[in-house]
Amino acid sequence: MGIQPDLICMGMALVDSIIKGFDPEPISASGYRAASSTLSVGGEAVNEAMAAAKLGTKTGILCALGEDAAGDMVLSALSRCGVDTSLVLRGEDHATPVTTMFVKDDGTRKSITNGSHRYNFHPERYLDRFTSARAIILGSLFRAPFDDPQIILAVLKAAKEAGLLVVADTKLPNFRVLSLDDLKEALPYVDYITPNEDEAKYFTGKTEPFEMADVFLSYGIKNVVIKLGSKGCYFKNASEAFALPPMPIKAVDATGAGDNFVAGLTCELLRGAAPKDALLFANACGAICTTAVGASTALKDRQQVLEMLKSL
Ligand SMILES: Nc1ncnc2c1ncn2[C@@H]1O[C@H](COP(=O)(O)OP(=O)(O)OP(=O)(O)O)[C@@H](O)[C@H]1O
Ligand SMILES: [Mg+2]
Repeated sequence: MGIQPDLICMGMALVDSIIKGFDPEPISASGYRAASSTLSVGGEAVNEAMAAAKLGTKTGILCALGEDAAGDMVLSALSRCGVDTSLVLRGEDHATPVTTMFVKDDGTRKSITNGSHRYNFHPERYLDRFTSARAIILGSLFRAPFDDPQIILAVLKAAKEAGLLVVADTKLPNFRVLSLDDLKEALPYVDYITPNEDEAKYFTGKTEPFEMADVFLSYGIKNVVIKLGSKGCYFKNASEAFALPPMPIKAVDATGAGDNFVAGLTCELLRGAAPKDALLFANACGAICTTAVGASTALKDRQQVLEMLKSL
């Protein structure tokens, strides 16, 4: 028996193999050195689920892992945070995605993915198991398994029929490329879409946040949040529009800021917060995430976020 989650995060689960300070000069015929090589769990659904659980929301995850060591690693990280993993799908026919990432001293990165990053499991087949859920987060729209219009439509339709709040985070496409037009049937089922500035530009062709938001709203999406990194965020729906400035913090690593932001937003909406209050909270979650290396390091609990907001 699981924890009867209020929130289900669906989508990408993986392991990042992060290589810092790679020296292209070989030290032997076939040997190279790097300053460090570390493994950490990631994928938007995993980062979001762990953040939401830390914020005190009963959270479950629906994702696909291989029957391998990388899969075990993701599972144990999720369990340590108290995420319900009873619906993690494990298959012998596919490996857990492992992203190899080369990070330069200036913070720029190059990453290597493979076929397992595009494994399309079918979240819509399992939705009826989450009878307690009140919200879902798609992490992320435009990436597997949410890069197939039929799967997206089936998931969102079922979620709406069950009365769930639907929050869709986005990413730039990698394998299968979809446009907003390809999803025009499904987008009216989205309550909140949360692209970052580059993603919003890519999907809308606009450069100003209010113009980007208008394009998303024209597809029937109810609320649009543009994450603006170190510039905070922008919100627009049919009745209000506002920008929130960034929280004043010293950022050291922005990995996962968006995922912590989306988790914070959804958790507060589930607690009944108005959009603006939920976004103030989300803005602080994103900012806190950037203060330490890693997507799931800095955010501890809801009290920490409330204290940061109080200190303003
Ligand atoms: N340097 C910063 N200072 C303050 N807040 C920040 C900073 N960077 C990010 N944030 C907060 O985190 C939110 C999400 O960050 P960002 O726009 O980088 O999302 P993202 O690109 O989706 O991130 P991810 O790497 O998780 O995909 C921002 O909207 C903002 O609220
Ligand atoms: Mg993001």
